[in-house]
Order: sequence, then C-alpha cells, then structure tokens
Amino acid sequence: MTVLSQLLATLGPDVVTRGAAVPDRNRHDWSGDAPVEPLALIRPRSVEEVSAALRICHASHTPVVAQGGLTGISGGAMPIAQGVALSLERMNRVIDVDPGQATLSAEAGCLLEVAQNAATEQGLMLAIDLGARGSCTLGGVISTNAGGNQVLRYGMTREHVLGVEVVLADGTILPAMNRLLKNNVGIDLKHLFIGSEGLLGIVTKAVFRLQPRPTHGATAFVGCASSGAMLDLLRRVRAALGPDLISFEVMWPSFYDIMREGIAAPHPLAERHGVYVIVEAGGFDPQVRDRLETCLADAMAAGALADAVIGANLREDRSFWAVRESVTHYARILGPLTAFDIGIPLDRMAAAVADLEAALRARWPDVRALSYGHMGDSNLHLVVNCPSAVVQPSKEIKALVYGMTRDLGGTVSAEHGIGTSKRDVIGYSRSAEELATMRALKATLDPHTILNPGKSFS
Ligand code: LAC
Ligand code: ZN
Repeated sequence: MTVLSQLLATLGPDVVTRGAAVPDRNRHDWSGDAPVEPLALIRPRSVEEVSAALRICHASHTPVVAQGGLTGISGGAMPIAQGVALSLERMNRVIDVDPGQATLSAEAGCLLEVAQNAATEQGLMLAIDLGARGSCTLGGVISTNAGGNQVLRYGMTREHVLGVEVVLADGTILPAMNRLLKNNVGIDLKHLFIGSEGLLGIVTKAVFRLQPRPTHGATAFVGCASSGAMLDLLRRVRAALGPDLISFEVMWPSFYDIMREGIAAPHPLAERHGVYVIVEAGGFDPQVRDRLETCLADAMAAGALADAVIGANLREDRSFWAVRESVTHYARILGPLTAFDIGIPLDRMAAAVADLEAALRARWPDVRALSYGHMGDSNLHLVVNCPSAVVQPSKEIKALVYGMTRDLGGTVSAEHGIGTSKRDVIGYSRSAEELATMRALKATLDPHTILNPGKSFS
C-alpha cells in the first residue's frame, strides 16, 4: 500500500487531498520560493488525526511540513515534493480564556488576531503582535518564536507560551499544557518546540499567558536628522518611559518614501527627515502621555529629534503605523524581494545601515534597498530589489548582507527564522557546538528525519 492510500484509508478524502488537487495557497508561503506540489495536503480536525498521519509518515519515512497561515518569509512552511503538507487550518478554535489565571488556550491553527480579540473580550491582552496578525496562526507564531512590534516591552513569543500540546514525529501525543506561571519540574520541554520551525514536533495546542490591558497610551511619529540622533532618542525614551515604552519602530527614507507613495499614505510631519520613528508609550500611569511629550520636547531641545507629532486619538495613533505595517504590499510595490531580519549591536547600527545600503548600491547601482526595523530590539529589516534584473541576484545580495552582518557581530535572523533561506549562513550566528547539539536533539526526536527536512538546522 502506498503512503497516499494508507493516509486516505485512515483519514479519508475529506482530510487528505491528493497532490494535483492541492490548492495554490498550500504550495508556497510568502518567501517567494517557487510553488511546490506536495504528495498530499492533510487537514486534520483533531490531534488524534495529526497523530495518525504522523504514525504513517514516520513508518514510511515520508517528509511532513506543518503549515499555519503561510505568512513566513524564510520558507519554513514550503512544502516538499514527495512529502505531505499538514495544515492546521481546521484546528482553529480558542479553547478557553481564564481571566483569573490570566491565560488563553487555543488550537494551533487559530489566527493570532482571533486569539487577541478573545483575550480583549475578557479585559486582558495577548501581548504578541505583528503586521500579519490577521493571517498568521498561533502555531506558526510559536514555531518561529515570532517577534513583532512590542518585543521591547513584552518579549518574543517564547515569553508568552506557558504550555503546549505537541505531536512528535512518531505520532506520540505529548501533553504539556501547563497553565502555571511557575513550574520548575525537570526540563521545560515546550522550549524545544518554540522557534524550532517544526523540526522537532508539530504544535497542536498552546496555553498563553495574558497581560492586563494598558489603560493609558500615546503614540508619537518622530523625524530625526540622522541615525545617530535616532539612537540618542532611543536612550532618552527608554530612560524617561521605562516599562511604559512599548514600541520604538524605525523607518529610514529608503523604506518610508517608496512604501508611503506605494500605499498613498499621508505624511504626518511638515518636512522630510533623515530617519522616522514611531514611539508607542502605554501603561497604567494617567500621565504617560505627558511624560512622552516632555521627553520628546527635551529630546528636541537636545537635538535628538527634529520634529514630532503625538496622535490626538486612537485613529490618528493607528494612522502613524500605516507605512510601517505595509508588509502585504511589498510584493506589489517592489516586485521580487530579498528580505532580511538581521540583528546588529546598536552601537554599530547607524554605520551598518549606511554601509549596507552603500555596498548594495555600489554593486547594483539601481538597487532598491529599504531599511526599517525594530530598533528597540536591535533588529534591522532590509528589503532588497534590483529593478533591472531579469532574475533577482538573491544569492549575491545575501552573501553581501550576511557577510557584513557576521563581521559586525550580528545575527542572520533576529526573528523570522532560518527555513530554506538562511541555511548556508546558520553557522555565522551559532557555534559548531550549538549546531551539533541541535542536530543531536533532532536525531533523538525525529530519527527518520521526516519533520521539515532540509529546513533550518536539519
Ligand atoms: C516586519 C516583519 C517583516 O517587522 O517582520 O515588518
Ligand atoms: Zn519584523
């Protein structure tokens, strides 16, 4: 019996879709990698069905790629020919919100935004947030240890996950749905499955820690003369706002001008500047807005910023984010992209942005190299497109950017993960011993290497 007929016999045609009938949506993610037709698409309705599918794939050594919202841009969810794509899209329920314990549990295919709203309805907050909130799933967020726009205040996804249910490569269901903030019994196994891009197991459910909703907030849109001034501003708002600094998001004109024009967004300031910053403050202090205003006025007097506007209401606050959150428009506006999520120590950031853009321009004079990112997290995004190239010179662009990143003591992936796109350079940011330990764990948990083979560290 072939794998396909075993899967069909066990799970039925409603769950198992044969390769040729697999929808376009499941053949690729947002990485820009060419679509791949998998052997089959499996859309289980329960953890038992995930387990049954994995038992068959384990026994037959058939590759399995877990899929969530398919918004990843590193290729982690790209299907593999001769392997199955296992989409969690039907396991999409919020299971419960416990306001007393301040937890939310949900299935892995639940959209991030649905989980956020469920927490909000109970007066609490799931403090993971990113531009793809309406399309990405909790399982994808966990498997990539997603970052986003509030990491500075609330940390990466790892900080929010209390427990998980995982199906291991051989079909074993691993129940680890801890709901307690503190549970120090042995190894906290959930961490193996957070950020490991589906290589060690498939997350089917999770428990998240929730936060109280800030009662007061204010958002500023700021123009600085230079990257150096922007970094001075970061030091100042950190000191003035402490834990009430939620976001410090930066856009250089290379990003801001082209994307603002592309989505026809208004410019909140009267003039143009060397760097733009969104500063979001929030917490429980009724004076937080005044503190932000005072801090910005002091920064202006000291030359750390050139102009700033504070949103008058929530609508205006949101409008400051329009260009920053235009990620779904990149492909339409720029065409094929090579995108980066590098991390650079802050004391080298100003020079790094200038040097990276200059080095790309020197090599490809008409290049569009767009810089922006989560500066509070030392995380720089660079999106590169060569308009005149018939085929994007992605390989060379990556070699240049990752080489400079390594030399600057940075990381090749601050938040998007490795997937297919950074496998060659994983050794720039992890030691040989770290990689060997990751592979030893992989060999123990997935001896037939069926889970997302050829991705990340496998
Ligand atoms: C962002 C995504 C691409 O921050 O990580 O826009
Ligand atoms: Zn990002």
